[in-house]
Amino acid sequence: MALVRLLALVAIIVSAWPVEAVGPAPNQIKNLVTFGDSYTDVVSTGDNGTAWPVYAARDGHFTLFPFARSGATCSQALTPRDFPPLFQSQLPAYFAEVANHSIRVPPEETIYTLWLGTNDVGVGELITGGQTPGVTLVDTVGCQIDWAKTLYQSGARNFLFQAMLPLQHVVLYSADSYPNRYWTLERNTTEWNVFMTEIVSSANKLQELMIQQLAPTLPGAHIGVFDSFGLFSDMIAHPASYLNGTAPLNVTGCIRSCVFKINESTADTGDCTIAEGTDRDSFLWYDELHPSEQADRVVAREIAAAINRQSSQWTTWFS
Ligand SMILES: *[C@@H]1O[C@H](CO)[C@@H](O)[C@H](O)[C@H]1NC(C)=O
Ligand SMILES: *[C@@H]1O[C@H](CO)[C@@H](O)[C@H](O)[C@H]1NC(C)=O
Ligand SMILES: *[C@@H]1O[C@H](CO)[C@@H](O)[C@H](O)[C@H]1NC(C)=O
Ligand SMILES: *[C@@H]1O[C@H](CO)[C@@H](O)[C@H](O)[C@H]1NC(C)=O
Ligand SMILES: *[C@@H]1O[C@H](CO)[C@@H](O)[C@H](O)[C@H]1NC(C)=O
Ligand SMILES: *[C@@H]1O[C@H](CO)[C@@H](O)[C@H](O)[C@H]1NC(C)=O
Repeated sequence: MALVRLLALVAIIVSAWPVEAVGPAPNQIKNLVTFGDSYTDVVSTGDNGTAWPVYAARDGHFTLFPFARSGATCSQALTPRDFPPLFQSQLPAYFAEVANHSIRVPPEETIYTLWLGTNDVGVGELITGGQTPGVTLVDTVGCQIDWAKTLYQSGARNFLFQAMLPLQHVVLYSADSYPNRYWTLERNTTEWNVFMTEIVSSANKLQELMIQQLAPTLPGAHIGVFDSFGLFSDMIAHPASYLNGTAPLNVTGCIRSCVFKINESTADTGDCTIAEGTDRDSFLWYDELHPSEQADRVVAREIAAAINRQSSQWTTWFS
């Protein structure tokens, strides 16, 4: 009798799988809608090459709808910047295109990604105190949660948040940094490195905990987190598994390294050393702030595999 009951229970669980499952089913997703900053912008690319969403769409056989824009923060109200923010620019652009039928995104077969935070915590904002007075990491990460809520209310059902990568390892925030096109004023690079290490790990943990809280409040949704921090840390620890250029493998410098003088205008070009051709794929970073195209190919491959459920290595699904 107990066995019969157990089998009945198993049957119920199995038949309920498509609805109750954690994460989308393999091959469920056909459309990829991307939001974020220069790490994800496909026009003004951060890596001066092809951005990861284009490669991910190719690798995962998705139709791509790219809304990420360089320089973006989550909200102009929290971390004001002269760039198209998620809430005041990217989401309105998306909703306008849905409304006038220039894009078609059926909820079941569409996933929404968000890779944000680099500009919210970066120079001119949290790390240098340029945010709206009183705003903290709790607000900027909470804003990302609001992104999923807003899209959910419009019918969206599949979400993949991308955690922040270990920003303390980009040249701009490393302890042995130099004045560069993103910051030429005097600073204590050790303090920036210590602070950024703290900020990124806290932001990622906040994001994870807030998503865990969010998931049960959005019935019928699938919500996951892609561990960019873990992936980039692994690329740093094991570069030969990911980088394949013809120069010595390099996870500390960048393809386009431009040294400025203290207080020099960031509109200048600086004193640049630029890797060319197949040497580029030896680098983890493109410039003092952005991943290289090869790093982005890896991100693309892993995101596509996560969405198609071919890999669970860097992704946790909370619903
Ligand atoms: C950017 O990409 C273009 C086109 O591939 C290339 O000609 C140029 O040298 C690159 N610039 C830098 C700084 O890497
Ligand atoms: C739809 O709206 C978008 C965003 O406002 C606009 O760029 C596009 O031209 C519109 N397309 C049509 C067919 O009206
Ligand atoms: C920079 O900050 C570190 C950590 O707070 C400190 O140990 C060091 O003395 C500072 N360097 C300068 C030049 O102020
Ligand atoms: C490195 O691998 C990528 C695929 O991940 C390939 O597209 C690229 O051409 C390779 N680079 C070199 C220099 O062989
Ligand atoms: C890495 O690249 C930088 C240029 O940004 C260069 O100065 C450094 O020597 C390189 N390191 C290695 C190990 O090749
Ligand atoms: C850079 O500018 C600051 C503020 O104007 C000034 O105090 C400092 O002496 C300047 N440093 C150099 C090396 O020019």
